[in-house]
Amino acid sequence: MCGIIGCVGRPNETLETLIHGLSKLEYRGYDSAGVALAGRDGAVDIEKRAGKLENLRGALENVEIEGTVGIGHTRWSTHGPPTDRNAHPHPDCDGDVAVLHNGIIENFQTIRDELVASSHEFRSDTDTEVVPHLIEEALDDGATPEAAFREAISRIGGSYAIAAVFADTEAVFCARQDSPLVLGLNDDAYYLASDVPAFRDYTDTVVYMEDGEFARLDSNGWAVTDASGEPVEKDPHVVEWDAEETGKSGYDHYMLKEIHEQPRALRECLRGRVDELGDHVELEEFAGLAPPTSVQFVACGTSYHAALYGAQLFREAGVPAQAFLASEYRTSPPPIGSSLVIGVTQSGETADTLSALREASRRGAQTLAVTNVIGSSAARECDHALYIRAGPEIGVAASKTFASQLAALNVLALATTRSAESRKAIGALRDLPGAVQAVLDDSTSESVAGEYIDADAYFFIGRGYQYPTALEGALKMKEITYKHAEGFAAGELKHGPLALVTQRTPVIAIAVGDDEAAKKTVGNIKEVEARNAPVIAVTDGRSGVERYADHTLPVPESHPRTAAVTASVQLQLLAYHSAAQLGRSIDKPRNLAKSVTVE
Ligand code: G6P
Repeated sequence: MCGIIGCVGRPNETLETLIHGLSKLEYRGYDSAGVALAGRDGAVDIEKRAGKLENLRGALENVEIEGTVGIGHTRWSTHGPPTDRNAHPHPDCDGDVAVLHNGIIENFQTIRDELVASSHEFRSDTDTEVVPHLIEEALDDGATPEAAFREAISRIGGSYAIAAVFADTEAVFCARQDSPLVLGLNDDAYYLASDVPAFRDYTDTVVYMEDGEFARLDSNGWAVTDASGEPVEKDPHVVEWDAEETGKSGYDHYMLKEIHEQPRALRECLRGRVDELGDHVELEEFAGLAPPTSVQFVACGTSYHAALYGAQLFREAGVPAQAFLASEYRTSPPPIGSSLVIGVTQSGETADTLSALREASRRGAQTLAVTNVIGSSAARECDHALYIRAGPEIGVAASKTFASQLAALNVLALATTRSAESRKAIGALRDLPGAVQAVLDDSTSESVAGEYIDADAYFFIGRGYQYPTALEGALKMKEITYKHAEGFAAGELKHGPLALVTQRTPVIAIAVGDDEAAKKTVGNIKEVEARNAPVIAVTDGRSGVERYADHTLPVPESHPRTAAVTASVQLQLLAYHSAAQLGRSIDKPRNLAKSVTVE
């Protein structure tokens, strides 16, 4: 969701450091951006603008803004439209404090009414703005900046990663509750951010903050305290990926780079887990975990499609399993019995998923996070964590993390159940990075995309393991092209959606292998063809579907489980090239954010 950066200890480069950090965070939110600088000169300077970071950069060319410490923010609106005045940071009445925030302050209206009644002047529609005014009240009562910050935080409820700077104070203060916040440390400078890429160019040493913790960063060092002000011992971690991994490396977009990184990401995911030669799968981290008697998955967006796939893996191994949209799980929780509850979440910070996992924990379930981010909230709060090891993903539309989620879920299902499918599935997993590379090398998706660029809508169909693949293909297409796209179980087409099918609605059908599912999908394709809709078939050539297809997007012959990954790569490329030809903002699609930390 919103991106946050703060920095202390780079007195001559504070602004530059903040802007650089924000450029790395724009994927978290990009409807407005702002910075606040403070320090020795007795004032807090704020500059903020609606729109992308470019607008803020432009504005900064015409103003003088100074300070030895500072904070910056890139916003994804929740309270109030994306305008200059709603952009963060927000000042108090006198301009002595600036505050920025990611999350939602649930009791802001009551506090705002009180503050307005005592003559505070509000200049935005945001929930955040109550905080600088609460701080102002405490300062007026004689509190130090740090005490005033604590006092304000003690009044608010909801979720927040929040940071503040003060006039005449060479320090940055921050606090976290249900929203990610990480500190970056090097010898003479300290950073805070909503996530590591913001300061990865400056340091690889990080400290993850926990809910209820506060931090103070100044030129003498950093300190983390709990809500009562007691020091908290924190262990710094070294992040394993380097800054280059968060650059575009010559690709036009992060998404294209990340699509092409999939063979490497998959190798990383499978390294040490799938035996290079034998039929063995091992997950050291789960050596002591009893085989689950039933499994419930919770997830959102792309991760929900991975969860649907994961549930099928477990069912195939004889373990009852079901996937739930995390946002619905909490509203209408299913009976939990002795289920293992697995949260699939790339970021590990999605509020809906965290809240479903917490609900499951409260009801006594063992929980497991399948995530990409070490030290993320999901990883820390769950009883177990399985890392997908995809490396940082910057494009808002997930690509490599989806492939790695599917691979990791395969390993998990194979390692924790006695699946009759083990042997063939393990071999296919071992071959998967190479199969994905072959798709990347030979895909004709760019020209196929060009053929249908004027389509009214795109429909994706598949069965079995290819049903989540179809849903994910449609999600990719709608996220980055802004065109109507829907995924359906192939058998459902005739129960309604067929009414929408015309010559202007290409149907993208995933029919791999020659099993029952593929044969039945071919039957459904014939229904479409008979209604004159163009058909694009993703196929390994075994189902004979070519005969009914206008175009094919080939994948190598493999197991249905791994074909879901190779087919997804074709669909990612199809969506990417369609969006590129339409001139869309591929890495930062309108209205979306990479990490959604509000429910
Ligand atoms: C957002 C993103 C989606 C993502 C979903 C879940 O909505 O735009 O691309 O799939 O969050 O994110 P997670 O980090 O939990 O996998």
